[in-house]
Amino acid sequence: MKKLLIVLCALLLCGCATKQYKDLGYSAEEARKIVSLKEDSQAYFSEYSDTLAALLNDEGFREDKLKTYFKYLDIFSTGQLIELANDEVITLDNYDRVKNLTELDEFMIDNIREYLKLTPRFDDEILVYLVNNDMMDSYEKVMKLASDPMFTLDNLDIYLEHFDEKSNIRDLIEYINSKAYLPFYTDEERADVEKYGYYVLVNKYYKLDADYAPDDLVNVESKYGRGKFRKDAYEAYKKMQDDAAADGIYFYIISPYRSYDHQYSLYHRYLANDTQANVDTYSARPGNSEHQLGLAADIMSSGYDFGTFYMAPAAKWLQDNAYKYGFIFRYPESKIDITGYKYEPWHYRYVGDIAEDVYKSGVTYDEYFEKYIK
Ligand code: DAL
Ligand code: ZN
Repeated sequence: MKKLLIVLCALLLCGCATKQYKDLGYSAEEARKIVSLKEDSQAYFSEYSDTLAALLNDEGFREDKLKTYFKYLDIFSTGQLIELANDEVITLDNYDRVKNLTELDEFMIDNIREYLKLTPRFDDEILVYLVNNDMMDSYEKVMKLASDPMFTLDNLDIYLEHFDEKSNIRDLIEYINSKAYLPFYTDEERADVEKYGYYVLVNKYYKLDADYAPDDLVNVESKYGRGKFRKDAYEAYKKMQDDAAADGIYFYIISPYRSYDHQYSLYHRYLANDTQANVDTYSARPGNSEHQLGLAADIMSSGYDFGTFYMAPAAKWLQDNAYKYGFIFRYPESKIDITGYKYEPWHYRYVGDIAEDVYKSGVTYDEYFEKYIK
């Protein structure tokens, strides 16, 4: 009699306990499984969830992994949760990293074990790319590349292809990012002034249409030199020249805007006396000159010429200060392999409000444009 009472009580208690879960929407069988769990495990089932029900019914279900399943509930399917948590691929500790990985466009669930095997010493995006493309044997090289702030994942295959061509990573990255690894004047694109405004790049890979001419050219007053310049560039230039004069530094413009035809005749005049390979190192081909933009100016000081200007106090002042007025120095001595032009301490290019950032980046505008503007 006493025994029967105990059994009855137990059944009643159990019935009450399962009722609670059945009311939530769990089946009788699921509810029985829930009440057989420890109390703190039962707490996970306080609301109905298809995924929780499916977990419970999966033969791989492990109560000791319930907390982990629950943590990753929004990220993985039931089968994935059971497999990954049971194998300790996903744990309570690596949630942030796993979540980051799964949010990457290139994330592939089949490769998750591979991704997580490595502690990333660089972005997981790069790691995912390496694993997905079976490139882990390049890991050490990629680590070096990725430590450079100008590294671009899109160019990774090209960096690796040219890895041995430069003695340091910085030079290699700039060489590739600026497109200089392609022979000059190949794969030329149209320089799009409408799209990029003052940021437009004109070089040996970006060419202006022959009929492009800016519509806001103004005459340079004789106090500031000669020729025509785009209005905003001219206003900025005048302030620069005035401020320099106040510092006792004197210079003026000798060649700002040049039309396509003007550049054509200049280039061909040089060609009459020099090899094309040489001319290409000091004169742009027509369509490839920043002067056609009306945003570049050759600047000179009296008593100096192109051969000696580098020694003029103005050359140093411009290098140190031009960015404050929206101008950048375009053709440094050490970057001929990137720009294709010899050192031109007299040539400055107006880019407006990004000039300081370009200056601080320490890279040529050719690379800066590709990385940050395009
Ligand atoms: N001398 C520069 C590169 C030009 O011709 O535009
Ligand atoms: Zn110039």
